[in-house]
Amino acid sequence: MSKRMRLGVLASGGGSNLQAIIDRCRDGGFPAEIAVVIANNPDAGALERARQAGIPARCINHRDFAGREPFDAALVAALREAGVELVVLAGFMRIITRVMLDAFPQRIINIHPALLPAFPGLHVQQQAIDYGARFSGCTVHFVDGGVDTGPIIIQAVVPVLPADTADTLAARILEQEHRIYPRAIELIATGRVHVDGRTVAIAPAAAPLSAALVNPSLEG
Ligand code: GRF
Repeated sequence: MSKRMRLGVLASGGGSNLQAIIDRCRDGGFPAEIAVVIANNPDAGALERARQAGIPARCINHRDFAGREPFDAALVAALREAGVELVVLAGFMRIITRVMLDAFPQRIINIHPALLPAFPGLHVQQQAIDYGARFSGCTVHFVDGGVDTGPIIIQAVVPVLPADTADTLAARILEQEHRIYPRAIELIATGRVHVDGRTVAIAPAAAPLSAALVNPSLEG
């Protein structure tokens, strides 16, 4: 099999998206592997999930740094040390700066629990309910200089139900997050994702090798 793309996953919380990615990477045919997990908070459940899976896990605590740039410089150093090719933000609750963006141009992705461009920012499940939206969902996007503004790679839609609370809606969205985040990584790692301004094009899958095994063709 060709070389797997090396992922660096950054997390702040429980890490259920990290877990979904760990589970997909266990499949030897998956084109990516997690090289390192980094949390900005020592209590992040994501660190424990990484350790359980035998993946190098580090805490780089933002409180130990004088500002966002020096914190980002430490992240960049750790990611480079691990040979990371794609940075995956999975519930990472820090705003990243040019230091990270310049180190990994178009190589940082994020997942957001709403259908961007609707409801960027925080507490977005409650915002969707309060607004009266009939549908919400989740979005995987490239990270640019703004908050949840980068080019969109993949989205999934879920209904907002009359009895929903922020928690029940978040749980329904999270199920879809766990499906689309590994898929986005797979598409990038197989070289099928091309960014053109705001637009992301997904190239069709290569024809399976078996297509060449019967010649002349069985069809036609
Ligand atoms: C997810 O809802 C993600 O979309 C948001 O933060 C949450 C992280 O959840 N950015 P988890 O830590 O992956 O369980």
